[in-house]
Amino acid sequence: MSSQGVQTDFVTLTSFVLAEQRRFPEATGELTTLLNSLLTAIKAISSAVRKAGISRLYGIQGSVNTTGDEQKKLDVISNDLFINALKSSYTTCALISEENENMIEVETEKQGKYVLAFDPLDGSSNIDCLVSIGSIFGIWKKKSEGAVTEQDYLQPGRQMVAAGYALYGSATMVVLSTGNGVDGFQLDPAIGEFVLTDRDMKIKPRGKIFSINEGYAMHWDESIAEYVKSKKFPEDGKAPYGARYIGSMVADMHRTLKYGGIFMYPAHKKSPKGKLRLLYECNPMAYVIEKAGGKAITGTENILDIQPTAIHERCPVIMGSTEDVDDFLAIAQKYSS
Ligand code: AHM
Ligand code: MG
Repeated sequence: MSSQGVQTDFVTLTSFVLAEQRRFPEATGELTTLLNSLLTAIKAISSAVRKAGISRLYGIQGSVNTTGDEQKKLDVISNDLFINALKSSYTTCALISEENENMIEVETEKQGKYVLAFDPLDGSSNIDCLVSIGSIFGIWKKKSEGAVTEQDYLQPGRQMVAAGYALYGSATMVVLSTGNGVDGFQLDPAIGEFVLTDRDMKIKPRGKIFSINEGYAMHWDESIAEYVKSKKFPEDGKAPYGARYIGSMVADMHRTLKYGGIFMYPAHKKSPKGKLRLLYECNPMAYVIEKAGGKAITGTENILDIQPTAIHERCPVIMGSTEDVDDFLAIAQKYSS
């Protein structure tokens, strides 16, 4: 509804989450507070990303993170924003960040009941050339009593209570699932609020796009090579699939969610567990894709069922439209025996 050209009845992410909370009479509001703090961090990152050039935030920070990548200035800023916002929300007890080697335990007096794993700024190789980047997060409830233990921060993805991502693309968008469907919210810079734009997002059962870094083709397993070939040279006169690969997981996955198709970062001979990290890259994306009706597997099992053993462990990824993932599985089966 609009009144004299001004929209007067929009749903913001905050009001949406509050309404979701009402569905659970026992809810304390802690998750709502957590998500609100996360949104503040995301807005600040979005603002930093948008003015990176003029603020001279491009380039390398000079330090190297846990997995050997060079940290960019924006990576460091985004990580600090996430950590500070979450610690001061009094809702979390343990934070796992791509940028920190160890789990961060929140000071006792600031602890709440949630564990959060996040990649504060993913797709760092795309920062300097202004290609879309994103933040990814997954939220679990602490399981044990007392001090934080591995049992709390090494839980399978299936146990998450919420997960999502922020995409800093041609607009800034947050896609979130609190377990009941997937909803998308675009940042309206005029009012500084995330406004509901994509209600109850569903992924198509089949798409027309495959997304994989073909530069690694010489290292692929036969199943991946045959699958990609089958999409480029289909039989029965079918049209070939389009190829799209941004090299920014959030952007590649968001396109997959919106248009359908398949995104793959599989294991290959040079990296037997793929590249992407289970806790803060694969799990949240798998959660969103499954809640939207798609599939997310490693090649042999569902990503959300993996029991993690280390905070920075990697995991092969094949996810997207159900029928597309099933096409891959049918080929993979031939090579499994
Ligand atoms: P990062 O966490 O260092 O940014 O790396 C993760 C990114 C993903 O966004 C993307 O899917 C992948 O790396 C691309 O890797 P590659 O360049 O090997 O295709
Ligand atoms: Mg990353």
